[in-house]
Amino acid sequence: MTEIKKTVKHSQIEMVELVLPNDTNILGNLLGGRLMHWIDIAAALAASRHSNTVAVTAAVDNLVFHKPIHLGNIVRLKASVNRAFNTSMEVGVRVEIEDIYSDNRTHSNSAYLTFVSVDAASKKTIKVPEIIPESPEEIRRFNQALKRREQRLSAKHGIIQE
Ligand SMILES: CC(C)(COP(=O)(O)OP(=O)(O)OC[C@H]1O[C@@H](n2cnc3c(N)ncnc32)[C@H](O)[C@@H]1OP(=O)(O)O)[C@@H](O)C(=O)NCCC(=O)NCCS
Repeated sequence: MTEIKKTVKHSQIEMVELVLPNDTNILGNLLGGRLMHWIDIAAALAASRHSNTVAVTAAVDNLVFHKPIHLGNIVRLKASVNRAFNTSMEVGVRVEIEDIYSDNRTHSNSAYLTFVSVDAASKKTIKVPEIIPESPEEIRRFNQALKRREQRLSAKHGIIQE
């Protein structure tokens, strides 16, 4: 059987959310947990689009909130698979904030998540298709994803990196 290969573009998704009162803290800024939820959903969509299976979150790399996101802002989440390994995939999510009054768009956060492809019936992990990076940006992310995976797995096994 020929092994299936897919492009990064095939996995790309864009999700748009409006920050409403129920998404904010008492200062009127987006709750960190709500943003993490949206990041997880965007990443899961990209992972499932690549694997055509259920994809479960295995790990989320450290996430930093650089600046507050305000009530009424538009949050744009762009997600795609950076690299597919055996049963797991690294997904990158870029979060952009759009001000509806000025059309001003700023980069807010970037997150890396690891998803694992699981068979819905047996609940066993399954192999994912290979991914083909095409653009220079996709190739850079593909190469960096391998380094991040090594760090993640070392941390998981308690190996301290210098
Ligand atoms: C993710 C999960 C399926 C992995 O199962 P497992 O028995 O550890 O499977 P394996 O050891 O065979 O690892 C499977 C893959 O996950 C990767 N993985 C496991 N733990 C990881 C971690 N902490 N960080 C990064 N990758 C990890 C492995 O490297 C492997 O990738 P590969 O096949 O591409 O080499 C299992 O831990 C699970 O079901 N977790 C709960 C998922 C969930 O409910 N998520 C929602 C969070 S609330």
